[in-house]
Amino acid sequence: MKPFVYITRKVPDAIVSRLSASYQVEAWTEEDKAVPREILLEKAAVADALLTVISDVIDNELLSRAGRLKVVANMAVGFDNIDLEAASRHGVAICNTPDVLTDTTADLAFALLLATARRMTEASEFVKEGKWTSWAPMMLVGTDVHHKKIGIVGMGKIGTAVAKRAAGFDMEILYHNRKRHEVAEEMLGAQYRSFDALLQESDFVICLAPLNDDTRGMFQRKHFQKMKKEAIFINASRGPIINEQALIDALEAGDIAAAGLDVFDKEPIGADHPFLTMKNVVALPHIGSASRETRLAMMETCCDNIEAVFDQRPPKTLVNKDVLQF
Ligand code: GLV
Repeated sequence: MKPFVYITRKVPDAIVSRLSASYQVEAWTEEDKAVPREILLEKAAVADALLTVISDVIDNELLSRAGRLKVVANMAVGFDNIDLEAASRHGVAICNTPDVLTDTTADLAFALLLATARRMTEASEFVKEGKWTSWAPMMLVGTDVHHKKIGIVGMGKIGTAVAKRAAGFDMEILYHNRKRHEVAEEMLGAQYRSFDALLQESDFVICLAPLNDDTRGMFQRKHFQKMKKEAIFINASRGPIINEQALIDALEAGDIAAAGLDVFDKEPIGADHPFLTMKNVVALPHIGSASRETRLAMMETCCDNIEAVFDQRPPKTLVNKDVLQF
């Protein structure tokens, strides 16, 4: 019998066809609705492989019921939706999609910084709502990005790619990371700072750290209060790294000037979320890696990983290297 692969979202036909050449494949077909938990649990119970996305919770409950499951190919660089320890215990390989999305995500993160600094979404709405009646010297003025100081929290691959873009804008690059990044220091002149020093000195603070036990809730109100009043905060990593209420309070109190957010505590955010009525917030629906080319490359990486597992080769982007399968 062919292995059964369940894909938890609607994906392009080419991906289903590629996997169907070797496996029995079924995919969730609704574009605008995520697979409900009960169905995911049902499918996982009989699946040999799952192709998942970041909003699918792959926890001990699911893994305990998934007696045949060999691999979860998660279509994301992040894997905070997955209980890695439980996966290793159950002998399930967990794979992610790093590298292929680095530049695309850095483009979006830097675009979000520019959009927030230059009030681009607000200005676009202003034009579309027919409010542009004259040219005025101080109409919709924002703040400069070039020659300012950017503070990058999380200097991994995406952080470094953002630093490259910042260097092109003649920005001074500060960073905070678990480890020093010698290459970024030598090639881009990036300067290491303690977390507090970075917050105090930067004009733009951009969060690109992964979500884990060390980073959850890393930004509290006191951290926004340490930033400059004119500072702009950008988050393109994971919502729960920030205490969201603290950010709302900081924006309302004027602790910082504005925020550009691609990620939120709970996604999608509700229609009554305070961010939606704040003029100084640019909000995006978690689209960091959302270019056609990159999303296809991410799905192909998932297919490569699934194929590797069934060919009994270690997958290229295996996350839980302690899994005893290979
Ligand atoms: C998206 O957020 C990812 O982790 O790839």
